[in-house]
Amino acid sequence: MILIDGKKIAADLRAALAEKVATFPEKYGRVPHLVVVRVGEDPASVVYVRNKARACDAVGIRNTTLVQDENITEEALLELIRSLNADPEVDGILVQLPLPKHIRESKVIETIAREKDVDGFHPYNVAGLWQKTPHMNPCTPAGIMKLLDAIGVDPKGKRAVVVGRSNIVGLPVAKMLLDRHATVTLCHTRTVDMPSVTREAEILVVAAGRARVVTANMVSEGAVVIDVGMNTDPETGKLCGDVDFDAVAQKAGAITPVPGGVGPMTIACLMENTVECFLARFA
Ligand code: GUN
Repeated sequence: MILIDGKKIAADLRAALAEKVATFPEKYGRVPHLVVVRVGEDPASVVYVRNKARACDAVGIRNTTLVQDENITEEALLELIRSLNADPEVDGILVQLPLPKHIRESKVIETIAREKDVDGFHPYNVAGLWQKTPHMNPCTPAGIMKLLDAIGVDPKGKRAVVVGRSNIVGLPVAKMLLDRHATVTLCHTRTVDMPSVTREAEILVVAAGRARVVTANMVSEGAVVIDVGMNTDPETGKLCGDVDFDAVAQKAGAITPVPGGVGPMTIACLMENTVECFLARFA
């Protein structure tokens, strides 16, 4: 069984990017600049945003974190985004989700200029993925594809099952697997007899957002299991994925740990997207 070391694969990616970014001051007169906006004090968001800033520092990307009061009005937040859109010294904009209930996430996502949308959440970027026109890939699905490449798993001709149908992970990763010629089944928490579906998977991507959605009886021998989950284990209080790791690891051909699997890859792809947004400005 291969334990997929996302931490190491992401570190290699960051190192390669750092080398590239180091050449930018001479070529372009400056380095890329990512602005991350956090609204309120959601504890998970505080950690994610801090990790994004640290990754920028490691790669040599200038970064600014703007913390806004949780009571900021939707209009004030949209105005802040518009000013960042207009700022020539800002290459990438990321507004950390989730947002407080009184702010419509869809409004925020569509207000970020698509050229600065390092998350790949803007409707034009989403459409670009589905229509195969130029676009920014969302970070977590892109990170999953890079993990498969890093361990030498070619999706072509394989049966892939994706559990979860969110805009952020399930739907885009299914599309990316399709584009790499996998045969893809999408299922979700209302799927009837999910084990009979997931047992068919040679590649199983689990992004259901709940602990122990996938247990050992749901996985076939040798499957590659990618766990996108980030949950607090209801029994131990520790961070855990959506997959019952200890049991599934006995059967899987390869599996991602949580933490240390998909998470670091998401952030490495965010760094890549920021560099891409920066370079597009000089093209
Ligand atoms: N919240 C959880 N994951 C993400 C992400 O990838 N981007 C943003 N903006 N917010 C998130």
